[in-house]
Amino acid sequence: MSLDVIILAAGAGTRMRSALPKVLHGVGAKPMLEHVVDTARQLNARHIRVVYGHGGVAVRTALAHLDVTWTEQGQQLGTGHAVAAALGVPPLAPLNSGLPPANAHDTVLVLYGDVPLIGAETLQRVISVAQDNSLGLLTVVLDNPRGYGRILRDAHNNVMRIVEEKDATDEQRQVREINTGILAASSEKLQKWLAALDNNNAQGEYYLTDIIAMAVRDGVKVVPVEPDSITETLGVNNRVQLAEAERYYQRTQAEQLMLQGTTLRDPARIDVRGEVSVGTDITVDVNVVFEGKVVLGNGVRVGANTVIRNTIIGDHVEILENCVIEDAVIGQHSRIGPFARIRPETVLADNVHIGNFVEIKKTRVDQGSKINHLSYVGDATVGRNVNIGAGTITCNYDGANKYQTVIGDNVFVGSDSQLVAPVTIGEGATIGAGSTITRNAPPGELTLSRTPQQSKAGWKRPAKKKDSGISNG
Ligand code: UD1
Ligand code: CA
Repeated sequence: MSLDVIILAAGAGTRMRSALPKVLHGVGAKPMLEHVVDTARQLNARHIRVVYGHGGVAVRTALAHLDVTWTEQGQQLGTGHAVAAALGVPPLAPLNSGLPPANAHDTVLVLYGDVPLIGAETLQRVISVAQDNSLGLLTVVLDNPRGYGRILRDAHNNVMRIVEEKDATDEQRQVREINTGILAASSEKLQKWLAALDNNNAQGEYYLTDIIAMAVRDGVKVVPVEPDSITETLGVNNRVQLAEAERYYQRTQAEQLMLQGTTLRDPARIDVRGEVSVGTDITVDVNVVFEGKVVLGNGVRVGANTVIRNTIIGDHVEILENCVIEDAVIGQHSRIGPFARIRPETVLADNVHIGNFVEIKKTRVDQGSKINHLSYVGDATVGRNVNIGAGTITCNYDGANKYQTVIGDNVFVGSDSQLVAPVTIGEGATIGAGSTITRNAPPGELTLSRTPQQSKAGWKRPAKKKDSGISNG
């Protein structure tokens, strides 16, 4: 018996008030629908079918990289209609829809593109209770069940059916156990029930929830399952709920990092928008954002207010406060910041120091070199044990093209120098402070370009003339 997952994502999501389809809104910067697909993937499903809406081509385009079967539901005639569309069940959906056929012996699991935090372990339990003669239904008891379908049980506490809020009596509305929408059932039975759905209800929709009563009628037991955590079933309809989902998600990310040996000064003030892999004994201060794929070695320290994107950071690196680091590799024992900006394609070897108000772009800096203050180094290679003084700039751009600056090992660049690329500073060279270097500097020598200093003996500062008649006003 294998598993077929159907993810419903055709709704318009009008309450988001957005040009972006709801399921493309991100949690941890990943579209909600992608979260659900990734979770479904952990279940080893044979097929993952996503039902998207008319005009939802944006969804399909944005998530084209996902290995799923897309089904367009032209008109949103209800959740039952959507599942029928995914399985190609007549009369609601045409046969020969080009879909891979649903195997009669499969288990079908129904998920929602706007319930992004659902966990694989909870789903595994829903699936495991779904047999030929039983159906798994994920339910939760809420203090405020408003808006949800209510679970109706008989005197023996068996689930009998689901009633939608709009169809419920006042008494039924008192029920606090609700339908999360997530269920698993035998494909064969599900197809039979879907074929028998009607839309005689308050909303004129084909309700998936109506199959519960059909199951009971067919002697199929409905087994309610509760999620590991109630936050897993949070549905996102507006941006308030989106923010709530984001906070739950971030809390989980923070907990995972802490359990892996990372100290977070405040787990509520870190955001992971991607994947962070960590060594041990890392300390992360407040307001740090990790984006994309970030690797942190053992003993790394990250200071407050720092953004690190797609970067590999070696063991015992210290990132001081207020840095922005992107698409870079940073070698062991290096020290960055405070207030440093490391831009894409920068590779720093071990023991490199990059200090305050320094910008590095597309540059390789070799071991032990220091660029400590107020500099821009771009399109360059910097050798070992180089010291670049405050205010040094590689002039890499002539307004049309970019050029390389090559700085050899053991070079000393005096403060406030401009290295006009293309230019090479030979090994062991010294550049005098305040120089504008436009030609290659030979190795081992002092090169400088500086207007000779002069002093004018007897010179006097101009004095203010008395009674000039010009007012200061
Ligand atoms: C549904 C359930 C309700 C449950 C609630 C949980 C039904 C009839 N009701 O109600 O019992 O408590 O979810 O959140 O199932 N969708 C489609 N195509 C459609 C209609 C909906 O793909 O034609 C998708 C939507 O994009 C959404 C999901 O199905 O992801 C749920 O649809 P929605 O209309 O929001 O159902 P609810 O009224 O919330
Ligand atoms: Ca809903």
